[in-house]
Amino acid sequence: MEGTTQHRTLVILGHPSTQDSRVNRHLADAVRGLPGLTVRDLASVRGAAGFDVEAEQEILRAHDTVVLRFPWYWYWYSIPGILKEWVDQVLTYGFAYGTGGDALRGKRLVVATSTGGPESSYGPSGHNRFTMAELMRPIEATAHLCGMVLEEPLVVHGARMVDEAELAAHGASYRNLLANSKGAARAA
Ligand SMILES: Cc1cc2nc3c(=O)[nH]c(=O)nc-3n(C[C@H](O)[C@H](O)[C@H](O)COP(=O)(O)O)c2cc1C
Repeated sequence: MEGTTQHRTLVILGHPSTQDSRVNRHLADAVRGLPGLTVRDLASVRGAAGFDVEAEQEILRAHDTVVLRFPWYWYWYSIPGILKEWVDQVLTYGFAYGTGGDALRGKRLVVATSTGGPESSYGPSGHNRFTMAELMRPIEATAHLCGMVLEEPLVVHGARMVDEAELAAHGASYRNLLANSKGAARAA
């Protein structure tokens, strides 16, 4: 369309074993073919020594919305190791934060994740004690440091229990979330 540019959305997939995935595979299928979408499967681009930092940073620069999609591996209070490695290596001082580090400023950040535990387990009286919002504080802090605009996360609870109809509804929500990622306002 004249006068408009295609909004570009980058999905960073931090799933160590997609061949065993149920939920994340479903989410992937739900957005296939969306215009302006790039999916980067970290397991397939990681080299022996980790990531090609310049290449990863260039790809980030070229997109408007960044989606972190991963299964919830929170027993050890962090994201899956491969995604943490990518964050550690790629979101560097002078690029993502610190002096001159404004490459991600104003970009939209979307989190899409799946948990093994049911929704009821995430709260003060549940097995996991804390809410998802509380456990996601490190991601919120990361978005803040980088000046990114964090969206409400999409969480699929009970990955092995969720039925096909619920899964389809989550897939539709995920597609809407990505399809409606219009140019985020530049963060102050
Ligand atoms: C190492 C590991 C740690 C996990 N930790 C948690 C956890 O802390 N809480 C939880 O609800 N599920 C946990 N799970 C379950 C995963 O979140 C679940 O298997 C995943 O979301 C399923 O998504 P998929 O079908 O796309 O693979 C863990 C799974 C693994 C392998």
